[in-house]
Order: sequence, then C-alpha cells, then structure tokens
Amino acid sequence: MKTLFDETQLLELKIKNRFVRSATHDGRADGLGHVTQKLIDHYEELAKGGIGTIITGLTNVTDLEKIVPTQMAIYDDSFIPEYKKLTDVVHKYNANIIVQLVCNGAQNRSKNPGVLWAPSAIEGEPTVAGATEMTKADIQLMKDAFVNGAIRAKKAGFDGVQLHAAHGYLLSRFLTPYFNRRTDEYGGSTGNRARIVLEICSSIREAVGPDYPILAKINCSDFMDQGLTPDECKYICILLEGVGLNAIEISGGTALSRANEGVIRKVTTNTESYFKKYASEIAEALNIPVICVGGHREINRLEDVVNQTKIEYISLCRPFIREPGLINRWSDGDTAPAKCISCSKCFGTETQCIFNKQAQ
Ligand SMILES: Cc1cc2nc3c(=O)[nH]c(=O)nc-3n(C[C@H](O)[C@H](O)[C@H](O)COP(=O)(O)O)c2cc1C
Repeated sequence: MKTLFDETQLLELKIKNRFVRSATHDGRADGLGHVTQKLIDHYEELAKGGIGTIITGLTNVTDLEKIVPTQMAIYDDSFIPEYKKLTDVVHKYNANIIVQLVCNGAQNRSKNPGVLWAPSAIEGEPTVAGATEMTKADIQLMKDAFVNGAIRAKKAGFDGVQLHAAHGYLLSRFLTPYFNRRTDEYGGSTGNRARIVLEICSSIREAVGPDYPILAKINCSDFMDQGLTPDECKYICILLEGVGLNAIEISGGTALSRANEGVIRKVTTNTESYFKKYASEIAEALNIPVICVGGHREINRLEDVVNQTKIEYISLCRPFIREPGLINRWSDGDTAPAKCISCSKCFGTETQCIFNKQAQ
C-alpha cells in the first residue's frame, strides 16, 4: 500500500512525499525575468508549507523572444547566482525544486512580443497573428537554448529540469497537427512532430550527465480538432523514456480546446483528477514515474489515485495559491478538502488568490 507521505527517490534525488507543486507562473520576477526578493519569499513560503517537490513557473530559455514581464527566465549565466539563492532557501526545508524550461513561442503574451516562433505560420490562426515558421537554424538555436538553460539550472542548484511541452507553448505546438504543418523531418508523423522535444531531451542528457533528473510536462490530449491524441501522447512518452527522460507530468488542453476540456477546469466532486484516466494508462506503458495534475482537491481521493493506478506523484497548482501550507495542514491531521474553489481568478501579473488578498 502506497501513502502520500512515502519517501521515494528519483535517480539520486530523495523526495519526502508524493506532492508536487505543478509549474505555476508566480508573477514575481522582474521585467527581464530576473529573481526578486518577492520571488524568493514566495518559494520559501511554499517550501515551508510541506510540499515535497516544487516546480517553478515557466522559465524562458531565450531572450530572443520578448520576456513576458514577471515571468522567470534563465537565458544567460547572470541567472546562476540569483537562482542559487532561491534553491538554497527551498532546500533549507528539505524540499526539492525543479525549474520548468520554456519557449513561449506563439503563445507569448507580451504586449509587443517581437518574434513569435511557431512550427508553422498559419493563416487566420485564431489564437495568434503573425507567427513565424521556424527555420532549421531557428530550431537548432532553440535546442541550444534549452540545453544551456539546463546546464545553468544544474549549476544553480535546481534538482532537475522540466521541459514544458504542454498547453500550446512552443514545444507543445510542434506536437499538435493543427499547429505543426511542416513537411520536413520536424512535421508529419507523430515521431517527426516529437523530434524537437526528443532531440532537446537527449542533448540535455548528454550535457548534464546520467544522474540529473529531466522531466517533461505533456498534454495527454489537446482536446481539440486536429489535436494531439491520447495514443500519440502515450507513444511520445515511450520515445521520451527511450532518450533519457526520468519522469513525465500528464496535463492536457490548449487555448483551442473544446469548452470545459482545457488545461484549467472547474472542479466538482465528479470532475476531480480530470486527467487521471489518461495518466494512469500512460503509467501502465512506462517504467519512469508519472505525475498527474489537474483538479486534485481531496486527500482521501488522492490516496486512491496512487493506490489504484501506477501514478506515483500528485501535482497541484491552484490549491497552493490559496493555501501554501496545505500539505502541512493535511499531514497535521486536518484533512478537510483544499479550500480552492477553482474560480481561476488567481491569474494576473502577480499570481494570487483573490480570497487571500489583504484589504488595502
Ligand atoms: C495562475 C496559474 C499559472 C499557471 N502557470 C503555469 C506554468 O507556468 N506552467 C505550466 O505548465 N502550467 C501552469 N499552470 C497550469 C497548472 O500547472 C495546472 O496544470 C492547472 O492549473 C491544473 O491544476 P490545478 O487544478 O491543481 O490548478 C498555471 C495555472 C494557473 C492557475
């Protein structure tokens, strides 16, 4: 019988419980993606709250696209000493911290985004105007940027890296037939569409050595027409395992998902753990651990998730915005469900729960 407070290990990394803070744009970096005291304090509060492994907000590997203000970044070596301070603070609480590496691509939400990289420039694409189809040289540059980001992350004391290949960001767009209409080796078949992610993963593995955890977050399905399907996702996960991935977080959805089938959903008793079915099927096909995200609110149900499936870790996002100390509350015996009502009003320049805001 598994418990949510089991100690486990990923390669050499010791993990004190099965709870993961899923990547969350915290909105506390400065205008160029650099670390602020506010960001460090925020991660200290999360680490103090009992979470075993914290995945940072999406962190840009390149400044060739405009940095979204308050989004984290890691595009040059000046970030290494700043992040060392952040990782040291988290480690004081025996928590792990993994950085989520991203290129926003066509999903860049800056007011003047500059270049909007995409696998294909799609005329009339409803989510973005003016995306640039990447050349082979752009793809090489992007692969190098991810590898350099991972090397910096290791030097800065992060316990691993997570490739953001979900939710319609650049790598995810390569996986999606609707967004990727290339006719070269980076488009077409499922394996071709996955090529950029596979190449990034194997190049990072070569650069960081065999013992450093590499994770990825992927959509089990895009839940849209001409989207990535569950079978394709499973196949890509198997390929990723083959090139050295150590764990995979299963999410789903893009900005074009059908109504109520996106990334961030309303959660009711009947729709808790909304990607569990897919994550569990993928876990059956893999030897590496699967992390399941999306709509986890009740501790008793989470015990069932890890015991009735091969899913090893449970990740949560919105509940920790409302209650950074949720895991300590649960481990201290107050097992009432997370207070988060999934209103998703936490989005903003600086992410916070509207119910926690102090009166001005
Ligand atoms: C405010 C906010 C910011 C988010 N930022 C990220 C992010 O930076 N990277 C990412 O992969 N997902 C991000 N997500 C998605 C979450 O990681 C998670 O997949 C989703 O919220 C579903 O989990 P939940 O029901 O526990 O909130 C964000 C979600 C919210 C609400």
